[in-house]
Amino acid sequence: MQKGKTLIFAHRGSKGTHPENTLEAFREAIRVGADGIELDVHLSKDGELVIIHDEKVDRTTNGSGKVGQMTLAELKSLDAGSWLSWEFAGATIPTLDEVLELLKGTGIKLNVEIKSDVIPYEGIEKKVLETIGRHGYLENTVISSFNHYSVKKIRELNPNMRTAILFMELLYQPWNYAKSVGASALHVHLSVAYSEMAREAPAHGFPIRVFTVNKEKDMRNLFRAGVDTIMTDYPELALAIRDGKRE
Ligand code: G3P
Ligand code: MG
Repeated sequence: MQKGKTLIFAHRGSKGTHPENTLEAFREAIRVGADGIELDVHLSKDGELVIIHDEKVDRTTNGSGKVGQMTLAELKSLDAGSWLSWEFAGATIPTLDEVLELLKGTGIKLNVEIKSDVIPYEGIEKKVLETIGRHGYLENTVISSFNHYSVKKIRELNPNMRTAILFMELLYQPWNYAKSVGASALHVHLSVAYSEMAREAPAHGFPIRVFTVNKEKDMRNLFRAGVDTIMTDYPELALAIRDGKRE
């Protein structure tokens, strides 16, 4: 990877074309050559790390109810693909273990977002670290969360872990605050990606990673600005633009 080139992370996998947060979406991201994948992790009733965005299964499966009130077996019985297209019927909610198994040998970067901002799943941070560690993938991973207590906890458990705070607003010198929770990067919403804050952060040692960048114009602008990373539902499109394969 050429120095200074913006990295492209597939948001919830290749979410634009495949059912989000499924092995199908992550496999597609690997196939198109994304630099990384982003995924969301929750804890099941029986303490398993499962990959899904919402606190409830309703939007992205054929089931209903809260993820944290269902066992892994119950979650696994749901169809997580048909809601998007019949082509993906039979896709299931993966575990973090299954995703790490898929990533083995690819070297692709991983952004694990801990979804503990609505429901503070007890002990999720320790489980996330143990699972990634068991697969030997800590070096390729950054852990982020909107719950900055989770970020802090991750750093207490493993002071070497790469972490990032997620936020949506324009803040004043957030790198000072980020240091206080042990984060080393800022994962920011597109609406503040062009701000003075975002432009200044790299000079303070804080790379900016922007979510979620789906419009061609934003991709081009952010590549030109030399932002560290974009997270997009359309990694194939972003790669073609970045690598000059699309005029
Ligand atoms: O981690 C970046 C992005 O995924 C945060 O928002 O709601 O898509 O998880 P969300
Ligand atoms: Mg996310």
